[in-house]
Amino acid sequence: MRRTKIVDLLKREDYGSQVCVKGWVRTKRGSKSVNFIALNDGSTIKNVQIVADAEKFDPEMMKSITTGACLSVVGEMVQSIGAGQNVEIQASEIELLGDCPSDYPMQKKGQTMEYMRQYAHMRIRTNTFGAVFRIRHNMAIAIHKFFHDKGFYYFHTPIITASDCEGAGEMFQVTTKNLYDLKKDDNGQIIYNDDFFGKMTSLTVSGQLEGELGATGLGQIYTFGPTFRAENSNTPRHLAEFWMIEPEVSFIDLPDLMDLEEEFIKYCVQWALDNCQDDLEFLNKMIDKGLIERLQSVVNTEFVRLPYTKGIEILEEAVKNGHKFEFPVSWGCDLASEHERYLVEEYFKKPVIMIDYPKDIKAFYMKQNEDGKTVQGTDVLFPQIGEIIGGSIREESYDKLMKRIEEMNIPMKDMWWYLDTRKYGSCPHGGFGLGFERLILFVTGMQNIRDVIPFPRTPKTAEF
Ligand code: 4AD
Ligand code: MG
Repeated sequence: MRRTKIVDLLKREDYGSQVCVKGWVRTKRGSKSVNFIALNDGSTIKNVQIVADAEKFDPEMMKSITTGACLSVVGEMVQSIGAGQNVEIQASEIELLGDCPSDYPMQKKGQTMEYMRQYAHMRIRTNTFGAVFRIRHNMAIAIHKFFHDKGFYYFHTPIITASDCEGAGEMFQVTTKNLYDLKKDDNGQIIYNDDFFGKMTSLTVSGQLEGELGATGLGQIYTFGPTFRAENSNTPRHLAEFWMIEPEVSFIDLPDLMDLEEEFIKYCVQWALDNCQDDLEFLNKMIDKGLIERLQSVVNTEFVRLPYTKGIEILEEAVKNGHKFEFPVSWGCDLASEHERYLVEEYFKKPVIMIDYPKDIKAFYMKQNEDGKTVQGTDVLFPQIGEIIGGSIREESYDKLMKRIEEMNIPMKDMWWYLDTRKYGSCPHGGFGLGFERLILFVTGMQNIRDVIPFPRTPKTAEF
């Protein structure tokens, strides 16, 4: 008999039909004469209740049906009188597909997130992580739909690269060289010409540079792929391997770029509200009581647009009035997460799009303003999260870009192709990068970025 997914079964009303469901036991309770088994197959947060009369089944097999065991059940769909669900199954056949010994690590409810992380291969079977990963899937679909509907092309940029887009030197090297026997030149520098690519290569920190090549041919593109940063930041907001969405648009200016950022995030949040109701309700109840309200409020609020200089004034004023920050704040400093969160959570109580940053704290490619001090960068700062988006209008003048590259000592030997966009038919353009896991953090109310990606990579952890 063909299997019915629980998500589909729970919508049916053709009581009396014979059905087959397969899934994992969440709980079993009952008496000598009848057992009630809550079965979940991952298709929804909801379980279906299996009613099994003891007399119909082998007592040994019934004993083996414990939390975590995998079953195939055939039976009659009946209307449920209990609260919660309309449908339950009166079992006629139960096959134990996989029993589950009592050392099953997901046995007990209410384990800490840290505990669950040690069993990332098993935590996917819990309610919380089921909800998180179903929402994660939905967000990926929303992202593709948003850009596709706007006429952006999904553009694939390389994962292995010889350039450092952000210039922060936080790259993981890729090599086939024998690390125990590295050939070096007279200055002690490693010789790469016999390495696989004949030069030093790394995992990409951003697809932007190649994304710009795409946008200056196809008009507007977006990338959506894995991104790697060897930054030794052990925080609840940083991963060494994360996913980033990077749209890049020709002929866009700063106000339009900010509109795109705001519209994009709101679209994704609205998508979750419309398509992930059951999972959001579960997370709202179990993880974060203010979640759904916060999501609705973001969709209905206009984001604040704030020049960096004004932001610093507000923070300095706060310090004057006795607010204590761990890190000092003055014009020219890179904002710490406590500063960003003060502006977003306490001062404005809304998401903030900050613009016009000092050029010295931003990457080489950002368009320089007339004042000679600031650049057209934009960061979107979010409640609970801090920076969720980083982007900019790009410097399209070949001469200004070259000058900045020289000032910042950026090795351009391998970036001639990037400069060609400014040499041949240069055009105004801009784009941004959204950290996918930071979006998922916001949408799920989870507290740690390690808990919104199936198998997190962070300093000293690459298990699974
Ligand atoms: O601000 P970032 O470094 O910007 C760029 O990479 C640009 N090239 C994007 C562009 O203009 N096309 O990173 C963009 C976003 C951040 O705002 C943050 O959400 C996320 O990527 N991010 C991380 N997420 C998780 N772990 C990390 N280590 C992250 N580093 C950045
Ligand atoms: Mg940034």
